[in-house]
Amino acid sequence: MPIVAPSVLASDFGNLAKEIKMLNQSEAEWIHLDVMDGVFVPNISYGMPVIKTIDGLTDKILDTHLMIVQPERYIKEFKEVGADILTVHYEACTHLHRTVQAIKDEGMKAGVALNPHTPIELLEDIIRDIDLLLIMSVNPGFGGQKFIRNTYEKLVRASELIDRKNADVLIEVDGGVGPGNAEQLAQLGADVLVAGSSVFSAHNPLAVISELKNS
Ligand code: DX5
Ligand code: ZN
Repeated sequence: MPIVAPSVLASDFGNLAKEIKMLNQSEAEWIHLDVMDGVFVPNISYGMPVIKTIDGLTDKILDTHLMIVQPERYIKEFKEVGADILTVHYEACTHLHRTVQAIKDEGMKAGVALNPHTPIELLEDIIRDIDLLLIMSVNPGFGGQKFIRNTYEKLVRASELIDRKNADVLIEVDGGVGPGNAEQLAQLGADVLVAGSSVFSAHNPLAVISELKNS
């Protein structure tokens, strides 16, 4: 069964405590936090104070997805506000190996995210150093976008690379994920499903989370 990571980006920020309480009661193991800087992606979301607040409201794993340039500048700060997993974009890091080591040195799990156009094969020489491979199934920056179907093929290639390198890496799919494609994604090797709008715009978010979990 996949790990479900609801993305708070789609939640009602005016009722953040209530939304986190709902997630606490759900079958979701992780909470996905999208940090956007308006430079790496066209949108700006939220940062440390919001993450710190969420950390105070839950014991779930905080899965933090940085869509920011030069993420190495803030590794320590994200650890301090409660991030358990810190994922940086391949496209945003000139010295990715150093950044990954710095994340692990802070005691967090290290993830690397790939934009839809970035081939899996570019991770050949870093795959054994990371804990999580995040495959973007939409162009990062916004929730509620349409799932890009090429992701299915990418998932297969990601599993192949991980097997071939004998790496211990979870595969996460992020963007346009919902009950309609979760089963196929899980079958093709997705270990973690991020879901924003499909969870938070649902009439019954707990039921959708449960459905995703049982994919
Ligand atoms: C997009 C973010 C996603 C987003 C997913 O840039 O990385 O995590 O919140 O939202 P949905 O599930 O609505 O596509
Ligand atoms: Zn994300």
